[in-house]
Amino acid sequence: MSIAILYEHPETDELGIKATAQEMGVELIHIPFRLVSITVGNDAFRIRSKAKEYTWVLERVGAVLNRAQSKNRRLYASSIMEALGKPVINSSRVEYICFSKLRTLLEFRRAGVKIPKSVFVPCNSHEFLENMAKIHNEVSIADLLEMELDGTMVIKPDSGTHGRDVRLVKSREALIQLLEDTQPSIINPVGIFAQEFVDKWFYDLRIVVSKERGKPPSCHPLALARAGFKDFRTNTFLGNMVFGVKLPAAVMEAAERCGMAIGGDSAWILALDAMPRVEGSRPADDECIRSDLEKLEPYFDNIKKVKRNPAKMKDFQTWNKRLEEAFDLYKRTEPYERVRRAIEENLEKVKDRVMFHEANSCPEFWEQTRLMTGANLAEHMIKCALSVANSG
Ligand SMILES: Nc1ncnc2c1ncn2[C@@H]1O[C@H](COP(=O)(O)OP(=O)(O)OP(=O)(O)O)[C@@H](O)[C@H]1O
Ligand SMILES: [Mg+2]
Repeated sequence: MSIAILYEHPETDELGIKATAQEMGVELIHIPFRLVSITVGNDAFRIRSKAKEYTWVLERVGAVLNRAQSKNRRLYASSIMEALGKPVINSSRVEYICFSKLRTLLEFRRAGVKIPKSVFVPCNSHEFLENMAKIHNEVSIADLLEMELDGTMVIKPDSGTHGRDVRLVKSREALIQLLEDTQPSIINPVGIFAQEFVDKWFYDLRIVVSKERGKPPSCHPLALARAGFKDFRTNTFLGNMVFGVKLPAAVMEAAERCGMAIGGDSAWILALDAMPRVEGSRPADDECIRSDLEKLEPYFDNIKKVKRNPAKMKDFQTWNKRLEEAFDLYKRTEPYERVRRAIEENLEKVKDRVMFHEANSCPEFWEQTRLMTGANLAEHMIKCALSVANSG
């Protein structure tokens, strides 16, 4: 039984999935999702490029890994593959929920998982009448948000990624200004989404959870902690450092509940974003951590340099070895070990205040999560796909 991988342009994640499939002895077939036509008619349901018809190729495929690179493209891809009778990792239902931070939080809440208080106002900051006169809703939206959230709040696009346009707002004036500048867009189709500011220390978490059909959900015991003091956003895309930390059992159990809330009883793989609220558990003095992060910078810069190397797409194996060596050097330093331990100790204290706020259905993993946590998501993805694969 073969499985397929669908994408537009391969990145190191996709090359990693291919290499892993090869190691596992699983045939992996590429389905392009760019310059192809998808024809739907009463007598036709066809996918083809100029050179090749993929409808036949798909006949011997039991399941599809959806690695299309934006939330919108993944939604299209999963719907098309499912209409062709192919189970997809992740399913269109999972993509639909993960597309929106609000929809995700609604599911987490139903599952009884701790979430940051969040407010959605389904109205755009400004609207146009038929005569093109502009109506301003900024003040009313700000009033609605301030009735529910006091003090500092975070405004973010409901379908955003990479921390783009995630803003901290500390005053009413700043809120009104931000609302004035906000337009509907592909990452924020409707309205305004605001969230209480979670007072975390200097790190947040990315937690991997997956489920094969017929098995219980499983949370990987190590999470990727993203850490830094420069910005309240500690996600990796902004260049923050990463640490592999052991998760308390209560957090793993909550993560599994999050996964079940989104993916249900079939097969899925998700990377969850979570933030621990530290409150009284913030150490009085974090000078040691700051100084350790500074000492780690040259090692982490070296990792970034390897990551930027364009040769990675030409000679993946050699580049991958270099990347592993760079991470190894970084992880073997004393500052790394001290910071890692500080995070683990803090996490143990705040384990009951870890708030889950997002689920990522197509996470990047090869370059960081895999090397810091030992979780090769490619292997989980392939096992998930095999568990739902039909005989074609
Ligand atoms: N309510 C909040 N309180 C405190 N910090 C927050 C809050 N929401 C987000 N952040 C910080 O901002 C970062 C980016 O936020 P979020 O994950 O919501 O955006 P994103 O666009 O989905 O980013 P990514 O794709 O990297 O996950 C988070 O990793 C976290 O560090
Ligand atoms: Mg996120």
